[in-house]
Amino acid sequence: MKILVTGGTGYIGSHTVVELQAKGFEVIIVDNLSNSSIEVLDNIAKITGKKPLFEKFDLTDSEKTEDFFKLHNDIKAIIHFAAFKAVGESVQLPLMYYRNNLVSLINILQGMINNGIRDIVFSSSCTVYGQPERLPAREDTPIQKANSPYGNTKQIAEEMITETIVNENIRAILLRYFNPIGAHHSAFIGELPLGIPNNLMPYITQTAIGKRDFLRVWGDDYQTPDGTAIRDYIHVVDLARAHVIAVERMVAEKGKNDVEVFNLGTGNGFSVMEVIRSFERSTGIKLNFKILGRRPGDIEQVWADTRFANSELGWKAEKTLDEMTASAWKWEKALAVKK
Ligand code: NAD
Ligand code: WQD
Repeated sequence: MKILVTGGTGYIGSHTVVELQAKGFEVIIVDNLSNSSIEVLDNIAKITGKKPLFEKFDLTDSEKTEDFFKLHNDIKAIIHFAAFKAVGESVQLPLMYYRNNLVSLINILQGMINNGIRDIVFSSSCTVYGQPERLPAREDTPIQKANSPYGNTKQIAEEMITETIVNENIRAILLRYFNPIGAHHSAFIGELPLGIPNNLMPYITQTAIGKRDFLRVWGDDYQTPDGTAIRDYIHVVDLARAHVIAVERMVAEKGKNDVEVFNLGTGNGFSVMEVIRSFERSTGIKLNFKILGRRPGDIEQVWADTRFANSELGWKAEKTLDEMTASAWKWEKALAVKK
C-alpha cells in the first residue's frame, strides 16, 4: 500500500517514513528540500534497508502537484508534513508562511479531490490552544487567537480541511503535536536546525557540544513549581508511530467521523529546568546555562490530555524524558562526526 509523505525528508517526516516502512507500507516522499537534505534518503535506508521513492518539487506549484498525482495514481493515503515551522520567522515574513503552508495544502486537497484519494493525516500543533485556562489541554479545549502567523496557518489549515471534506469523499485525522524532541536510536536521522536554533532541545545539545556558549533559560518567574515554563515533550519516534496508527485506522475504515482530532503528547509536563537536569543525568554532561527574562510570546505551561488518543488510537507515548534527551545528544554527536 503506497503512502505519500510530504515533507518526508524533514525531522518528523523522516522518522515517520521509517515506522511506515517497518510496517510494510511503500512510501513516496515529496519534498523541495527547503529545510532538509537529500542524504536523509540514504540514512532512512541504513535503518530500514529500503530507500523510499522520492520526488523533489515545491507543493505550492499546483501544476507539478497535479502532474505528480496523475503519475502516481496508486497512492492510498497522504501524511502532510510539508510546511515552514519557525515561529519567529513567520512574524517577520508572514506572507511567505501563509503562501507556503496554505497553498501547498490547497494543492494537496485539490489533488485528492481530482484523483480520488480519500485519506489525509495532517500535522497540526498544540500552538492552537495558546495558554489554556484549564490543563491538561483536551481536544475540545477552546482554540485561541494565534499569536504568530505560523500558528495561524495551523488554525486555518484545520478549518480548510474540515470545511473541504463536507462535500467531498475525504477523511482527515488532525494530529496536534506537543513538543517533539529526540532522534532515532540509531542516530542516522534526527533534527537538522538551520542556523541558531530557537527550540530548547537543539539549543541544549549545541551548547553541550560547544557550538553555543550557554543556554539561555527564558524566565524563572512563572507560576510553576521551579519558576521555569512547562511543556509536554514527546519523543519523535513515539510521535512517528502515532502517524502509522492513524493511517492504518483510516484505511481500515475504523474512524468514527470524517474529521478526527488527536493530541499527541505524553500527558506529562516538564519544566525547562527539568529538561536540563534530564540532559545532565542521561549524558553525564554539566550544561552551561544562564537564567534570563521571559521570551516574548511564550506561554507559561501546557501539557496534553492524551486519553482520547490512548483509547481511540490504542497509542501511548512510551519513551521517557531521559530517553529523549539521551537520543538528542547521540544525534548531536553523530552530526559532529559527519562534519
Ligand atoms: P521540518 O522542517 O524538519 O520538515 C518539513 C519538511 O517539509 C522539510 O523537509 C521541508 O523541506 C519540506 N517543505 C516545506 N515546504 C515545502 C513545500 N512547499 N514543498 C515541498 N516540501 C516542503 O519540520 P518538522 O519539524 O518535521 O515538522 C513537520 C510538520 O509538523 C510541519 O507541518 C510542522 O509545522 C509540524 N509541527 C512541528 C512541530 C515541531 O516542533 N517540530 C510541532 C508541531 C507541529
Ligand atoms: C520550549 C521551552 C522556552 C529555547 C514551539 C512552537 C510551537 C511548536 C513547538 C510547532 C519554552 C524554553 C527555549 C531556549 C529556553 N511548534 N527555551 N531557552 O516555544 O514550546 O513551542 O515549538 O508547531 O508552535 O512555538 O518550544 O522548544 O522553543 O521552547 O529557555 O534557548 O524552552 O522558553 O519554555 P515552544 P521551544
